[in-house]
Amino acid sequence: MNNKGFPKGFLFAAGMAAPQYEGGFKEGGKGISIPDCAVMIDQSDRKNHIQFDPENVEKAIASDDLIRYPKRRGIDFYHTYREDLKLFGEMGLRALRISMAWTRIFPNGDEDEPNEAGLKFYDDVLDCMIANGMEPIVTICHYDMPVALVTEYGGWDNRRCIDMYVKYAKTVLDRYHDKVRYWICFNQINLLHFEGFASVGIYKDSDNYEERCHNAIHNQFIACAMTKQYARQHYPEIMIGTMLSDLMSIPFSSDAEDVNITMERNRVLDFYYGDVQLRGKYPRYIEIYFEEKGFNVPVTETDAKLLAENTMDFLAISYYCSSCCKASDGLDPTKSSSRPGVKKTPWNWGMDPENLYQNVSEYYDRYQVPILVAESGVGLLEEPDENMRVHDEERIEYYKTALKSLKRAIDHGSEVIAYCAWSPIDIVSSGSGEMSKRYGMIYVDQDDFGGGSRKRYPKDSFDWYKHIIETNGTDL
Ligand code: BG6
Repeated sequence: MNNKGFPKGFLFAAGMAAPQYEGGFKEGGKGISIPDCAVMIDQSDRKNHIQFDPENVEKAIASDDLIRYPKRRGIDFYHTYREDLKLFGEMGLRALRISMAWTRIFPNGDEDEPNEAGLKFYDDVLDCMIANGMEPIVTICHYDMPVALVTEYGGWDNRRCIDMYVKYAKTVLDRYHDKVRYWICFNQINLLHFEGFASVGIYKDSDNYEERCHNAIHNQFIACAMTKQYARQHYPEIMIGTMLSDLMSIPFSSDAEDVNITMERNRVLDFYYGDVQLRGKYPRYIEIYFEEKGFNVPVTETDAKLLAENTMDFLAISYYCSSCCKASDGLDPTKSSSRPGVKKTPWNWGMDPENLYQNVSEYYDRYQVPILVAESGVGLLEEPDENMRVHDEERIEYYKTALKSLKRAIDHGSEVIAYCAWSPIDIVSSGSGEMSKRYGMIYVDQDDFGGGSRKRYPKDSFDWYKHIIETNGTDL
């Protein structure tokens, strides 16, 4: 690694998602989103992930409970954003990835006109970010579609969702194009296996679940291409990106079948999405996969043309830990694990960011577009000391290794826009609904049930990251 620091213009950043921090449930005319219906996991099994079923979603829609549904509370950023953004500015962040809540702008999704109060909120948030020295990076939809898209339209395999999304996307591009350069259409478009309902609004036990999901994803590809087309015609200075959860795996051993299954998984779980959106057409291997499974995923001539002519400008990825697979894991993503011997969090996530070098390089080589690391971090159980200070050495170690690994990819030719540490501040966990799965560099005095003073306290990692940014990564 050379010691010249990161390239000029590199964005040392952090990222977070509206349904995990905003709160402000139903305020300013906000409608109900899927995460507003999510309950916390059973903490006796932290390998669990939030699940949804129609009956419980209906119950949630009818309820105004803020205790049972932790994402309705977030960390109350809706009311505290001025102080929070000031603190992030003091950390020296050059950019901040946020998301916009679709339901603040189109509460039900199908309204003809946007909700001005929601738009005004984001005017204020973006202005405040910029005033505090941070460039905004915006995710248009971070697992938070209006729940009405499920209850009234059946989820994303209904093509009407395309029109509703594109109307929303055009509204935010029109309003904020002069404040936001980088736009990510959907959070982790490929994470169906873990976040199927949050991604596409289809219940896991529905008939033909996997086939419906692939049709839903096709519709999201079209929605992204239409957003890109609109941006190219109206705001050529902005960049529209897609985002993958980095599921790129490495073989568990050198055994030929471990190596082969790794290649096949990487295609089906990861590259297929990038190949469609960045190379502009469905690769033959996925057509064969659909044929073998008997899936009908119709791609019309108009669709194919739209995809070919409107590929994405950059690739955003999230990276948390390595994924190692054995032949016996097949194509089931839930079966892989971190490389042997790696230390795990209580949620069984490996704490090994070393693969960032390899994965970023491979993505860049394959797609030849700038890479934006939109998420990377570690969720831990943490307690402050008597001075309300958290000494989060493990997080610092994680970030140090991640940034060194990323720097190596940059030194070897990959073009990288940003590294967004997940996250600047403790927020509610997406997958578990817990507050106690803490990712922040700022501690929030709030428990899993919303108790606590909600005061913010910088952790050791806050000072560490500030120093790294000030020294442009020369002191890693
Ligand atoms: C990513 C999501 O998959 O993982 C984030 O985009 C999420 O929203 C992050 O917070 C960490 O996952 P979790 O479940 O630990 O919050």
